Amino acid sequence: MCGIIGAVAESAINPVLEGLGKLEYRGYDSSGISILSNNEIQTIKAQGKLNNLKQRLSMQPIEGDCCIGHTRWATHGKANVTNAHPHQCGQVSVVHNGIIENYLQLKQQLMQWGHHFNSSTDSEVIPHLINHYLAQQMSQEEAIEQAINQLKGSYALGVLINGASKNLYAIKQGSPLVISEGNNGAYMASDAMALGPDSGKIYYPKDNELIKLNTNEIKLCSGSANKKIHYINNKHCVKVISKGDYSSFMEKEIFEQVDLLKRLSVNNHTGEYSTINFKNLNKITIIACGTSYYAASVAKSWFEKYANILVEIDIASEYRYRSPIIIDNELVIFVSQSGETADTLAALRYAKNKNCQTLALVNVANSSIAREANFTFEIFAGPEIGVASTKAFTCQLAIFYKMAIEAAKQRAFIKNVEVKQLALNFMKLPYIMETVLQRCTDMKKIAKKLANYSNALFLGRGALTAIAQEGALKLKEISYIHAEAYAAGELKHGPIALLDEHMPVLVIAPKNTLTDKLLSNIQEAQARNAPLFIIGDSSIKQHISLQENEFFELPEIPESILPIISVIPMQLLALYTAQILGKNVDQPRNLAKSVTVE
Ligand code: F6R
Repeated sequence: MCGIIGAVAESAINPVLEGLGKLEYRGYDSSGISILSNNEIQTIKAQGKLNNLKQRLSMQPIEGDCCIGHTRWATHGKANVTNAHPHQCGQVSVVHNGIIENYLQLKQQLMQWGHHFNSSTDSEVIPHLINHYLAQQMSQEEAIEQAINQLKGSYALGVLINGASKNLYAIKQGSPLVISEGNNGAYMASDAMALGPDSGKIYYPKDNELIKLNTNEIKLCSGSANKKIHYINNKHCVKVISKGDYSSFMEKEIFEQVDLLKRLSVNNHTGEYSTINFKNLNKITIIACGTSYYAASVAKSWFEKYANILVEIDIASEYRYRSPIIIDNELVIFVSQSGETADTLAALRYAKNKNCQTLALVNVANSSIAREANFTFEIFAGPEIGVASTKAFTCQLAIFYKMAIEAAKQRAFIKNVEVKQLALNFMKLPYIMETVLQRCTDMKKIAKKLANYSNALFLGRGALTAIAQEGALKLKEISYIHAEAYAAGELKHGPIALLDEHMPVLVIAPKNTLTDKLLSNIQEAQARNAPLFIIGDSSIKQHISLQENEFFELPEIPESILPIISVIPMQLLALYTAQILGKNVDQPRNLAKSVTVE
């Protein structure tokens, strides 16, 4: 992951620091900048959050018109100042996002040539290699190209060279990178969202296109030297996102879901979904990671139940390395909030190589996954800043729900009147969600109790198993309480051995066709003294006595939209538990929003 940014502009440090703030979602282990000031490269770094770097810079202000910056998510080497980027060798300073797989061989070779290394990162070999080739009288462009020819792995690089002319270079292989020409400068970044207001025009370079940025021009060097850069408009450049009166972005994003779903329920994108010929499909495969994978899991249940389509789901990092069986008329859907997840992108490329029809479901419109898939549907969640995904999940589900309705229509598997009912349920969705969110104080009481435990077991059935999994993921991500989720029927096949008074069991038990089955599972847990937390229908209380800090009541919810509503209490529970434990819910430890490394 990591975020990189560079600017050639007056007071270049300002857009770089602003951009680093917007890139912090990619990693916040350390940050640093290099700036060309008085014909010298000055590098300043700090461990931890960007604020630490800003504090250092406020004591030591530097001016210059060529600057690169980095925010780190540690892969090779601990999160300390020495391993922070930029890495410098002589007159070359480099910021890197990605992984250099053959760095050890390169490091050994460079050490034999007399180079001395400071950090334990893979990235430090890059400035050393460039410096090595510069010392052999190569031009700056040649030296960079020679160096990158040696690299195996993925990278997006910003390279600052202090030479006769002041140049900033950008190049990528497999990792995201965007270039921008503004009225007052030239910029590069990992993500268009990081670019400031002076970045109306952007360009996404192809792999291994070397781009030179200086005060006069932005130029494609190397093989494509005579090619013109074709810019597109930057949709992200003017948006400033604040958390308003909310305590965190995560809380804001949870409460935003009602409005987002209202918009999705009135916007009729169904026309768009009819571009897919569901009638002739033999199979849908859905590929994703993390929360997006749980959305895929819910989608599978809808496509199967309402449209009778065979659906297979897989985790991207597994799909790309097994030998998936691809059949005729198969649609492969890739779900990704960021549109940059390295494993999902690699799986997409794999499927395209096998001539599959590919569809991307993304939140970031110009992302790599969106650009590379045959078709793209946006989920319209707006920028999601909290590292733990919330609103993107419900918007992914909403789009899948609409697609399932379209599939049901085309395949005529259920009656017309049932299709209409599904659509009607969708219209009710935001209003029921609003009712659930209004009960948030009830969830605070439950969170207070749950915060006393170190482990938890979450149970659901049917499509709600994926919601239990998503709830467990949210809880462990931001509160660091260990939580696992199971299909409730699996309880007695193993996990029941864990149950005692120290292992709380949380059950999603709304009123649906499986409520009676869940009741037996709840009783099995209670018989083993496990503290119980139930998110469900009030009828449960006739069977089991529960305190008010053990029960969250769900209103009556049509079964088809249950997964979208049931996740709301899970998100609230994770949020409040983490807050009670004093954790940083927007930037949980070790995580990054965009996972651009394998
Ligand atoms: C969990 C979370 C992650 C992401 C996963 C995939 O809260 O945010 O599990 O869902 O890293 O990311 P995208 O959807 O961007 O591909």
